[in-house]
Amino acid sequence: MVEFHQIGEDQVGLRTPEKKDEPAILSLLVKAFGQSNEGRLVERLRACGALVLERIATDDDGKLLGHLAFSRVTGTGEGHRLKISCLAPVCVDPASQNKGVGTKLIQEALDDLQGLGEDLVLVLGSPDYYSRFGFDSELAKKVQGPYAGPIFMALPFTQAGREDLPVEVTYATPFREFE
Ligand SMILES: CC(C)(COP(=O)(O)OP(=O)(O)OC[C@H]1O[C@@H](n2cnc3c(N)ncnc32)[C@H](O)[C@@H]1OP(=O)(O)O)[C@@H](O)C(=O)NCCC(=O)NCCS
Repeated sequence: MVEFHQIGEDQVGLRTPEKKDEPAILSLLVKAFGQSNEGRLVERLRACGALVLERIATDDDGKLLGHLAFSRVTGTGEGHRLKISCLAPVCVDPASQNKGVGTKLIQEALDDLQGLGEDLVLVLGSPDYYSRFGFDSELAKKVQGPYAGPIFMALPFTQAGREDLPVEVTYATPFREFE
């Protein structure tokens, strides 16, 4: 089901991708990142069943504008019962960047993810950008894993996600290429 949102003068559709969208998603990832690593990551995450939620943004003709994926992260230690996922990768077609598509895509997907009962979401990226969604680099200091550092952030959805820390996390196997 496509949900349409007004962004400036444009109508942007948000939906879960179907099998037929996968080649266009791959092309978009290569275009947005200028390399094939992120496209390969998404394909491998899909293949190993690690994806928790995937969303695309389209224009009013159905053309692909943006994509994001959340995948399962496994916790051990104090927070071993937490449902944890990570946001990676996220991209918007370079021709459509800085118009609010990424913000809408991420915010709506986070709302859906919260509805699935996740406790904590992790991201690696610019604090200037991701803090607008509530991602917090201070909280992420209690999350030990391969990406710990100043651009590693965490967003809690539940009290457990805020309090049942520290937690040590392991990402899905396809991320090993990026560690
Ligand atoms: C990051 C990205 C998804 C943002 O999508 P977008 O549709 O352009 O974002 P929006 O229009 O909603 O938001 C634009 C804001 O993000 C900021 N922004 C964009 N890219 C940024 C970056 N790499 N670092 C910090 N801020 C960034 C812009 O300065 C702008 O800030 P403002 O709202 O304060 O003016 C998009 O720029 C992109 O695909 N980049 C290439 C791929 C990438 O780096 N992905 C993120 C890492 S997985």
